Amino acid sequence: MPLLKALAAQLAGVALVFFLLRSGLLGAVPPWALIAIQAVGACAAAVALGSERWWWVIHLCFSPLLLAVGQLGIPPGWYLGLFVLLSLVYWSTFRTRVPLFLSNHATVEAVAALLAGRPEARLLDIGSGTASVLRPLARRFPGWRFLGIESAPLPHLLACLLARKQANVQLRRGDFFAQDWGDYAVIYAFLSPVPMQRVREKALLEMRAGSVLISNSFPLPETVPDHVVEVADSRRTHLYCYTIPSRKKRKGR
Ligand SMILES: C[S@@+](CC[C@H](N)C(=O)[O-])C[C@H]1O[C@@H](n2cnc3c(N)ncnc32)[C@H](O)[C@@H]1O
Repeated sequence: MPLLKALAAQLAGVALVFFLLRSGLLGAVPPWALIAIQAVGACAAAVALGSERWWWVIHLCFSPLLLAVGQLGIPPGWYLGLFVLLSLVYWSTFRTRVPLFLSNHATVEAVAALLAGRPEARLLDIGSGTASVLRPLARRFPGWRFLGIESAPLPHLLACLLARKQANVQLRRGDFFAQDWGDYAVIYAFLSPVPMQRVREKALLEMRAGSVLISNSFPLPETVPDHVVEVADSRRTHLYCYTIPSRKKRKGR
């Protein structure tokens, strides 16, 4: 669990400072030196715990930044306000490990091209954020019905406000793994590598034969996509498209 590792690494840095102070090895040192020792200790502990490299940088910067920001004299209420705001946006990211970032316009256009020509049906966006995919698609395809499921309260609230006049958009707050995926001809996902194995298992269990799972950027493990759309945007977004096989062919996958 990355968060527990991060907490353990920070505590290890603090423990190192306490140990050095108590043992008398340090003598009289300025606060910034204690902070530097804590940061290096936390970073070393993160390396030892096998944390990913970007955590090392976070551990090196964390306590020095605390010290620096502490000098600015910002009233504590601002920290609380920012914490509440970020919690409402990122909510269960510490557990799902899927942060909020939005599909861009070019990607929405590419998804629209995939929908064009298909019979009118239902599309589910698993982790719909601010409905930035569903709202433009719903305008383009009035005969389709769009459902978005989002766990984080603030993006969901914003999505509801922005889509309030779109009758073919339905938005729910909750966990998309708790929803039955069997009713949807197309499922769109823009998540992270972490849940993709679970997404694969649920898709093969519940989605109907012939329905399509489109995954933005993160392929399903051990599954060859039917085709991959390369979007002409600056980050060369890849849309991995999987047509769900018949139940017979799914066995053994
Ligand atoms: C990368 S954003 C994508 C937003 C939107 N689909 C788009 O493409 O612009 C992924 C969203 O999935 C949400 N999410 C992650 N796991 C979830 C879960 N199990 N149930 C519901 N929402 C989830 C996150 O809160 C985040 O807002």
